[in-house]
Amino acid sequence: MSYDSRYPAIDDLIRKAKKKIPRFAFEYLDGGCNEDVNLMRNTKEIRDVQLIPQYLTKHTRSEMKTELFGHVYDAPFGIAPVGLQGLMWPKSPEILAKAAFEHNIPFVLSTVTTMDIERASELTEGRAWFQLYHPADNKLRDDIIKRADAAGCPVLVLLCDVPTFGFRPRDIRNGLAMPPKMTVSNMLQIMGRPDWALRTLFNGQPNFATMKPYMPKGLDLKQLGKYMDATFSGRLNEEKIAPIRDMWKGKIVLKGVACELDAEKAVQLGLDGIIVSNHGGRQLDAGNSTIKPLKYIAEKYRDKLTVMMDSGIRSGPDIARSLASGADFTFLGRTFMYSVAAIGTKGGDHAISLLKTQLQQVMEQVCCEQVKDFPKFLDSGD
Ligand SMILES: Cc1cc2nc3c(=O)[nH]c(=O)nc-3n(C[C@H](O)[C@H](O)[C@H](O)COP(=O)(O)O)c2cc1C
Repeated sequence: MSYDSRYPAIDDLIRKAKKKIPRFAFEYLDGGCNEDVNLMRNTKEIRDVQLIPQYLTKHTRSEMKTELFGHVYDAPFGIAPVGLQGLMWPKSPEILAKAAFEHNIPFVLSTVTTMDIERASELTEGRAWFQLYHPADNKLRDDIIKRADAAGCPVLVLLCDVPTFGFRPRDIRNGLAMPPKMTVSNMLQIMGRPDWALRTLFNGQPNFATMKPYMPKGLDLKQLGKYMDATFSGRLNEEKIAPIRDMWKGKIVLKGVACELDAEKAVQLGLDGIIVSNHGGRQLDAGNSTIKPLKYIAEKYRDKLTVMMDSGIRSGPDIARSLASGADFTFLGRTFMYSVAAIGTKGGDHAISLLKTQLQQVMEQVCCEQVKDFPKFLDSGD
């Protein structure tokens, strides 16, 4: 498995993806919220992190393999949960789950994507993680959790950073905000992307696969919006997490942590890990980047639970910067989707191979033998 040399940078994939899929789908993937300040802050501030190489230190070999929750993964990064993936490219969650399995990295399935828990488990031999949007109804919550358990899912990810839907002007303009609507402009955009349109026609309209058994049949777009709104409304809190901790025997990770207070609560609730994340800058435009809180959260909590990070990572050097700043593991969301939207079935393999190659190069360059040694190479600016 090696990367496609026509796309050696994520920017190449972004450019190609933009040409391959309708504008409303690209903007749904690519955008942040409000004025995109948080989105840009993520990428900017992670790139401000600098590493110090050691050239004459004795070095045997750099090894990317990383143990996480009892499994040794081939690389210290995984595929973050993304909703509605089939809208961006037909069968994209299937493509990514397979690639993650083949490369032995984690794939996280979103509650609201277009592949269900059972299929994710089948494609990954029970290794897929599951991200739960907490339903308003406890019976529905229990049923979804039971399905994830029956599918052998090792890690349940609880998302805490969506107490409200992000305010995303592009999606509002494109009719993708709740309730969604199909506009004439969207139809024209689809006609301008025949490959996407034919594949979408062939694979059927994308739907919320995991949620399908619970949804009334024949909802129009407006009713669908109302249904999703009512089903997932509400804020995650300690009272909602505690019974899940009692119920779920596997690992639990809290995703969307951006401050010490929430990290502390995760410890008190007996959770196994946190993902320092701001949803890729899609929720709070006035919020901070994730690399910033990562540094002090990791310092204080790394010996109490596993500290992971996402948001703003676009390359192997970015993964290295995050690991050097204290993350035990990293996730990327958009990067993998850009790759699938750009090059289809081979997109998962390409992006993973490219990131592995880039990260290996950084490890050799700075003389880092194991992933956990990365913090030794951080330029703390003193
Ligand atoms: C289009 C899109 C949809 C997303 N949907 C979900 C979701 O359903 N559940 C979730 O936990 N996070 C979701 N996220 C957030 C990602 O899991 C992840 O936190 C984010 O993409 C990381 O930032 P990055 O894109 O800069 O790598 C979504 C992100 C994007 C870009």
